[in-house]
Amino acid sequence: MRKTIKDFLKKKGKEKIVMITAYDYPTAKIISETDIDSILVGDSLGMVVLGYSSTLPVKMSEITHHLKAVVRANPPQLIIADMPFMSYEISIEKALYNAGKLIKLGADAVKIEGGAEMVNTVKALVKAGIPVMGHIGLTPQRYLQIGGYKVMGKDEEKLINDALELENAGAFSIVIENTYADVARKITEKLSIPTIGIGSGPYCDGQILVIHDLLGLSENIPYFAKRYVDLKGIIRDALRKYVDDVKNMAFPSKDHYKLKE
Ligand code: KIV
Repeated sequence: MRKTIKDFLKKKGKEKIVMITAYDYPTAKIISETDIDSILVGDSLGMVVLGYSSTLPVKMSEITHHLKAVVRANPPQLIIADMPFMSYEISIEKALYNAGKLIKLGADAVKIEGGAEMVNTVKALVKAGIPVMGHIGLTPQRYLQIGGYKVMGKDEEKLINDALELENAGAFSIVIENTYADVARKITEKLSIPTIGIGSGPYCDGQILVIHDLLGLSENIPYFAKRYVDLKGIIRDALRKYVDDVKNMAFPSKDHYKLKE
């Protein structure tokens, strides 16, 4: 059975929440066999799957394409879909339309980037019955304005205020990305909703990683991500072995073909 927002919320202060990104059917099937709490169909797919240099080019149609694949795997994890750049900033109507689309396709919640400036949008989505996860600290959709992918939180009061405003607007959880660990801790202690950290230290209520970073498939892994396996090396070695086998006629072998006589 699919986990719910309630399952997510009741972990605060009791048990760490574990999230991972996923963008396709086979990966979501594997995640189904773990105790991970929630899958984010993140706009990071633009960089790790589609080869864009940032998340800015990601379109709604790309998020929906990958969301549908994850939903088809029917994982027990709460599925959260990222709203791509410019799918929720233009107007509240547009945000409602696009978030509604993701929910109709099987997402249990949506995630949007931004702090206090997103309060009216969050309120409108929540009023329409759409659970919203916030995202503060380093917000990659604003890297042009921020001036790169920097550690955030120098203006601690602003970040704390952003978190409190999102909570008051009805967000059920907030991702805190690339923020000083002590600042993320203060935010986590002040909120009654769970915080999910990425590059923000161990004191958040949960953690999220981009699955390509964890598996060693990303081209560039940020300093705060942990690579648990070198899948790139494993895949490359398997492909080289396949090339050798074909050239040496070791594949296909007797097990892999039939003779008429
Ligand atoms: O798109 C994404 O993968 C994200 C996570 C890094 C939180 O937003």
